[in-house]
Amino acid sequence: MAPDKTAKKDMLFHPAGDLKKNAHVPDFDTYKELYAKSIDSPDDFWGDIAKDFFWKTRHTGRVLDHNFDVTKGEVFVKCMEGARTNICYNVLDRNVHHRNLGDKVAFYWEGNEPGDELTVTYGELLHGVCRFANVLKSQGVKKGDCVSIYMPMVVELAVAMLACARIGAVHSIVFAGFSAESLCERITDSRCSLLITADGFYRGEKLITLKLIADEALRKCKDKGFPVQRCIMLKHLSKDPEEIPQGSQSPPLAKRSRPDLQVPWNPEVDLCWHSLVAEASDECEPEWCDSEDPLFILYTSGSTGKPKGVLHTVSGYMLYTATTFKLVFDHQPDDVYWCTADIGWITGHSYVAYGPLANGATSVMFEGLPTYPDVSRMWAIVDKYSVSKLYTTPTAIRMLMKYGGDPVRKYKRESLKVLGTVGEPINPEAWQWYRTVVGDGRCPIVDTYWQTETGGHVLTPLPAATPTKPGSATFPFFGVVPAVLSESGEELEGASEGHLAFKRPWPGIARTVYGDHDRFEATYFRRFPGYYLTGDGCRRDEDGYYWITGRTDDMLNVSGHLLSTAEVESALAEHEGVVEAAVVGKPHPVKGESLYCFVTLAEGAAYDAVLEAELKRRVRERIGAIATPDHIQSATGLPKTRSGKIMRRVLRKIVCGERDLGDISTLADSSVVEQLFQSRC
Ligand code: WT7
Repeated sequence: MAPDKTAKKDMLFHPAGDLKKNAHVPDFDTYKELYAKSIDSPDDFWGDIAKDFFWKTRHTGRVLDHNFDVTKGEVFVKCMEGARTNICYNVLDRNVHHRNLGDKVAFYWEGNEPGDELTVTYGELLHGVCRFANVLKSQGVKKGDCVSIYMPMVVELAVAMLACARIGAVHSIVFAGFSAESLCERITDSRCSLLITADGFYRGEKLITLKLIADEALRKCKDKGFPVQRCIMLKHLSKDPEEIPQGSQSPPLAKRSRPDLQVPWNPEVDLCWHSLVAEASDECEPEWCDSEDPLFILYTSGSTGKPKGVLHTVSGYMLYTATTFKLVFDHQPDDVYWCTADIGWITGHSYVAYGPLANGATSVMFEGLPTYPDVSRMWAIVDKYSVSKLYTTPTAIRMLMKYGGDPVRKYKRESLKVLGTVGEPINPEAWQWYRTVVGDGRCPIVDTYWQTETGGHVLTPLPAATPTKPGSATFPFFGVVPAVLSESGEELEGASEGHLAFKRPWPGIARTVYGDHDRFEATYFRRFPGYYLTGDGCRRDEDGYYWITGRTDDMLNVSGHLLSTAEVESALAEHEGVVEAAVVGKPHPVKGESLYCFVTLAEGAAYDAVLEAELKRRVRERIGAIATPDHIQSATGLPKTRSGKIMRRVLRKIVCGERDLGDISTLADSSVVEQLFQSRC
């Protein structure tokens, strides 16, 4: 069923003039020229970029080499083969020693409690990382070993990951919201011998006793025959002010201090971060790694099955995250950049840690929640640090939209210049709110489409160059060649809708699934040989803009017509009474599937027959009679992953009344599921 393509045709937003003055890519013609170069001569394009980085030895092979065709042999991607470098050296030492940025602020850390804060310069970060790298070495961690990191959003999390990178160890960061079971699964899969964690932290008002969870995970690992030898614990809450090592900055601990916190301690395994660091030297020669040496593993849950350990390697990931960060946020030396993602997700790896640091950027790192102590917190932080570039998620935007514009307008937000979003399709309603309310209509929106597997942005506007359409991730980044494929694998031309795939690699694409290359090939390359398959549906409009329509496994099939979740949901969310919607198919004897919609209402809106009729009419008008919802259920909350994505798989079970929900370890709040079961229509 063709969606309504005319309604919003004229809604094109052109980048503002003042942003263009200094921009790296100042207009659309420049984008097109550079894009053509990146496609026609990728080796020159990325080779030129590589000149800004430090290489211990130069590359001998091609800048970019690959095979995407399973019928012709093993799938592989190689970047800068033969070169040796170190990413930690490039993001820290290079900035301190070659670019004179030792005194520049790397992170403004903002704790969960307002007033709990810490400033860390590039020079201080380098010393901290060297100290901790020496600690890891003293614990026997060697190049190629895997280290699990399970920590809250504290500066030491960045220190731990960079210390691994410095000595050539592979980090596997597990988001601190995961359960003991999930942590255990990830530790055993990656065969880590050492775990780094913290005593605990607050998320809003909730105390998370992280060490207790980590201990439970380690017990489970032992039961499975996989004993972890060492666990280094950072005292984040239970630290006495006197314990802070001399010379390091001390944040005001008063508000989060919990010297009474019960932290179990096993002297055979547990080690104290602070005592180890106090004895370590702050000089540490980096380990020179081969370009294709592994840098990290990051588990992505996917919609079903065992989590996949997506593996990224050193040089390509470094070049790609640095370049996308610089161009997509049009990074300038005096920027203050804030990405709200946790480092435990790929967004945090690429755009809290490596990308910004590679550019010598100053970032805000935030430990807390957008709703604590109140729903103005994000805007208070924007004003406090004069944030100029902000990067967040559609789910956060929609949640804040519920409270209207007043909490936003309490703060000035004059420093903002570019607003980014990532993680899910952003419905045009939320896009407009972000632009007009948060950005006062001054700031371009960059809707960045990418995945854990892509390492960095692959479809995205460039803020001074790309005219944007609300809800579209616009065009490919440099070096990226998208294709829209039909069910039979035929490549569609022009305006079309189908599977989103990529025809060739860019430096930052994942190299394998850790320990299971066959699964890597099976998931991304086997169905359509010669292409990397994203698993997302997309539509390319008559102007060549790409619109992500959602995961293809979530697509709806009503009487033989394929409908995208994103388009139906965005039609529902256009109604002023609705802030968020999720749509799934319910088995139907005649139509195959009928539409079952869940809607979260705005503050003050009430669900009644009038609203229901309006919503049905709106979907019918926007998409067509075929998409008319059969059921609409008002929901106080939706089941979401811990990273904020709606779990439509769980909703499908709810509408069928199936209590067996399968693997729900990634579900953030299981209480919403019960509520939804209770109020089924
Ligand atoms: C999936 C990847 C990439 C960092 C965070 C998520 C969806 C991501 C967008 C966007 C529409 C998006 C896709 C993708 N997605 N960004 N701008 N527009 N959909 O990483 O957990 O690996 O999830 O998120 O479905 O495949 P991830």
